Amino acid sequence: MSDIPDPFGENRRADGVLSCPFTGEEVLMILRHGDVKRAAKDWGTFSSDAPFRVPVPSEENLRTMRQLPIEVDPPEQTDYRKLVEPFFQRAKEPAFQSHIENLIRDLLREAMALDSMEIVNGFALPLQSRALAVLLNLPQSQADTWIGWGIHVFHGAGGNQGAGLEAYHNAQLDRAEANPGDDFFSLLTQAIYRGRRLTRDEMMGFANLTFAGGRDTIIHTVACVIHYLGTHPESLEFLREDPSRIIHASEEFFRVFMPLTHIGRVCPVETEVHGVTVKAGHRVSLGWASANLDEEAFESPRDIRLDRKPNPHVSFGFGAHLCLGAPHSRTVLRALLSLCCEHIKRITILDAHDRIEHTAAYERPLGFESLTVAMEAIE
Ligand code: HEM
Repeated sequence: MSDIPDPFGENRRADGVLSCPFTGEEVLMILRHGDVKRAAKDWGTFSSDAPFRVPVPSEENLRTMRQLPIEVDPPEQTDYRKLVEPFFQRAKEPAFQSHIENLIRDLLREAMALDSMEIVNGFALPLQSRALAVLLNLPQSQADTWIGWGIHVFHGAGGNQGAGLEAYHNAQLDRAEANPGDDFFSLLTQAIYRGRRLTRDEMMGFANLTFAGGRDTIIHTVACVIHYLGTHPESLEFLREDPSRIIHASEEFFRVFMPLTHIGRVCPVETEVHGVTVKAGHRVSLGWASANLDEEAFESPRDIRLDRKPNPHVSFGFGAHLCLGAPHSRTVLRALLSLCCEHIKRITILDAHDRIEHTAAYERPLGFESLTVAMEAIE
């Protein structure tokens, strides 16, 4: 049985592209796995050097600065990225992994002690926030603040929806400048880029991306996986029988539950994509979610196969901008699956409200507005 809807399948097979209108702008989505990977490597033709315009829809009303290192091309991007990459790579260390396991074990214990729990706000949000505090080397009291923001990281009064997040980052950077430690904000205040310190806007650009890119993505993935385990009880047995399957299962969940349908690029000069002309200064997007379902790259792509290998999904992007949070995301999901196998007998879905990405060109299921479950512990 095919589990995964594929809103791009017809266009991918027929044209390879889909024109998507977003607030008065046509964005041409590239749909095929091979084309998406080629475009991701060709920043001369498909550039990320475009403040606010890499996300689709664009984010002029969510922030006041360019996000780094995502909204810039190599070679500048390479040098910006080097400043923070070792920090993100810590997620591969055993001590880091056991820290994440401990916090997920505590959250699962809390969930199992209740008759029912709403997963998006009650489990996925605290899990994401507590794990991010570990990643950024900040005290767990900071995670409590982020949990208080609710699931939307951009928050603020009036026209600037991101004002709350920017005020928080400014305060953290002030604190780190006055009294540096070994946390992420301190790293930004100490970093040397091409022989100089970062400007406050650049520091804010790194911080903003880390909070925005690491929030919904993890919350969404955790909620989708808990729902899957609840609706496919045999999958827990399958993973328990041979825990080495957890690595492959995690990659398959990243492939099919991809939270980011597409990400934009700007064409500096007029470009033709599968017979469609994109004018200079206009955008295309890299259709990660469509590429993940391309039958040219995956056998029976709409089936969820927990032992799929190889699995060349592009959920963490491809090329220069490969997701810096990928090691962290993998650590979190593998720990969650491993601890569910260890502690949970059954997950019963009590109530689920789907979230749908509605656009003029397509509709795509995108996780859950809310998901209420009961988790039964192994005796
Ligand atoms: C399921 C979880 C996640 C998914 C699916 C995901 C997806 C992606 C994708 C597709 C890109 C490439 C963007 C592009 O090419 O324009 C990317 C980049 C990035 N992600 Fe993630 N991400 C996830 C989690 C995270 C987390 C947890 C963090 C940080 C805490 C993070 C931080 C970043 C950063 C900083 C970049 C920019 C890298 C660069 O430009 O060099 N992501 N992510």
